[in-house]
Amino acid sequence: LRRLAVLTSGGDASGMNAAIRAVVRTAIYKNMEAYGVHQGFEGLINGDLKRMYAGSVADIIQRGGTVLRTSRSEDFKSVVGLEKARDTLHSWNIENLVVIGGNGSLKGGYELSKLGINVIGIPASIDNDVVYTRSIGFDTSVNVVLEAINRIRDTASSHGRNFIIEVMGRACGEIALAAGVAGGAESILIPEIAPDLDQIIEKINKGIERGKIHSIIIVAEGVYSTMQLRDIIESKTGHDTRVSILGHIQRGGTPTAQDRILASQMGKAAVDLIEANKRNLMVACDGNRMFSIPLQEIVNGKRTLELGMFELVRILSI
Ligand code: F6P
Repeated sequence: LRRLAVLTSGGDASGMNAAIRAVVRTAIYKNMEAYGVHQGFEGLINGDLKRMYAGSVADIIQRGGTVLRTSRSEDFKSVVGLEKARDTLHSWNIENLVVIGGNGSLKGGYELSKLGINVIGIPASIDNDVVYTRSIGFDTSVNVVLEAINRIRDTASSHGRNFIIEVMGRACGEIALAAGVAGGAESILIPEIAPDLDQIIEKINKGIERGKIHSIIIVAEGVYSTMQLRDIIESKTGHDTRVSILGHIQRGGTPTAQDRILASQMGKAAVDLIEANKRNLMVACDGNRMFSIPLQEIVNGKRTLELGMFELVRILSI
């Protein structure tokens, strides 16, 4: 019987469990043996694997996080670590590995593939920063942010305050943009576009002149100090301004239907590729179509942001 192992790596994303379930169940359906690696690449280095059966993935489709656990492995970045990982897989007679994770994890998988392991990637990251594809976990995360914006709006309008809401995303403004459009934010600060503070303040002040009593400003992490921004906005608008940093709540919670469906489709597609003897690819989905791309192209690709969304916020928040 053919064997495959599956692991989750890097920051967890809601829907990873649905992906694990789909990989394991599809493998069993296709008469392959499935193994789960504990704690990402760390488990591969330490030989922490176990056989998985259809029942091993029961009752997890609705859970956030990852039942296989995860890690951000430093050891895996070294040749010694990579060789240990390869040796573990060889000793278990496993030649196929499904890596569920974001950019760092897919890069790790690509490095391992150079040592002869067949690696199939599944993009999962709340940041949605993997090139050419949507990532599992993004939709859930955006919905968590949206829920927070809705709640903050209640108190913001009751008090007539401005609110600065900081969201995650690493070097990518996708969460901020999507939540900003869906949440009706006045302004958005994202890493891809240099912030224009004068314009932000002008917009808030114009709103105040028109009788608007609150504004929501979304800031992607790392773009600007939210506390400094608060001081500037408060002093230049004369309106009370508060900061809310959402943090890791954006990484948890039951996955949305969209993330579960994407994860289920991608998990199956990954095993289809293994069955068809396709090597070192990432499963991708552009919204409608499922396809696959060489891992090498993912590692070397540069993501471009859809600027139309930024423009949309600018227009709709006049
Ligand atoms: O990549 C997901 C992410 O949540 C980023 O948005 C954030 O910058 C980072 O992980 C936080 O990482 P950690 O949980 O290791 O602090």
